[in-house]
Amino acid sequence: MRHYLQFSDFTREEYEYLFKRAGILKQRLKAGQLYQPFIGRVLGMIFEKSSTRTRVSFEAGMAQFGGHAMFMQSKDTQLGRGEPIEDVAQVISRMVDIVMVRTFEQSIIDRFAENSKVPVINGLTNEYHPCQIMADIFTYTERFGSIEGKTVAWIGDSNNVSRTWLQAAKIFNFKLNLACPRGYEMTVLDGQTYGPEHFETFNDPYQAARNADIVTTDVSVSMGYERETLQRKKDFINYKVSEKIMLQAKAEALFMHCLPAHRGEEVDPEVIDGPQSVVWDEAENRMHTQKAVIEYLLLGKIED
Ligand code: CP
Ligand code: NVA
Repeated sequence: MRHYLQFSDFTREEYEYLFKRAGILKQRLKAGQLYQPFIGRVLGMIFEKSSTRTRVSFEAGMAQFGGHAMFMQSKDTQLGRGEPIEDVAQVISRMVDIVMVRTFEQSIIDRFAENSKVPVINGLTNEYHPCQIMADIFTYTERFGSIEGKTVAWIGDSNNVSRTWLQAAKIFNFKLNLACPRGYEMTVLDGQTYGPEHFETFNDPYQAARNADIVTTDVSVSMGYERETLQRKKDFINYKVSEKIMLQAKAEALFMHCLPAHRGEEVDPEVIDGPQSVVWDEAENRMHTQKAVIEYLLLGKIED
């Protein structure tokens, strides 16, 4: 049994398979073809934080597969009243076929997975957001083919999303340029070393964006960090993706954002609503790529 808790849980070869499979699932769905391998199967979804895209993409995807997705918010379950995560994992995994968890510390989902009888997928933790980066790289690949050798410029917080881009840089062999204010540099948590061919930190966002193939950002205040809002709004004031920043990148560069976005804060409306932005494709592709992951974790590789 496999879990998907960090981006590094799959190899490059597995991602290539998953992207191919996501493309097939996407194309068949758009052609109106029914594909229901999971009739009578259930995805349990535990949310300890808010969500729009993650909930909708998993729930719609599971319905398209002929199965059911069960939405649970920790505040409405015994988890919110202190039931140990290990006990919750034991109980839920006896009744459902696969679980998605959105929570705070990565250690919570790790403990859940250790006690689960079924595969567990990370739907965002404080440290990582693997499903997002899988969808983002698929979005790039759909347009331009392989991301190998390309440059991704991240302007903003060293958070769960950028930390996942970093894991992806090593697996796909591209470079992550990260521009953040002093004091917000990336903490690498997976024990790996990332050489200059995969990772460079800048304080100047213009330098980071130079010649990039993708320019991307995220909120400066992630869920769970709300008490730092005032300080962060001040510290990130110069780390906004503007049209001037986009001009540093390649002419065909894409703008990405995992969403939700705050126009005028981390990105200007002209950029996120402009011609280089692929944010709606990223959101939609969450569903297609996650369906490929669910199918892979439950059935293995499908050869058709
Ligand atoms: N990008 C993303 O995970 O969005 P939600 O928080 O709406 O799920
Ligand atoms: N970094 C953001 C991503 C939201 C999808 C957060 O964790 O709140």
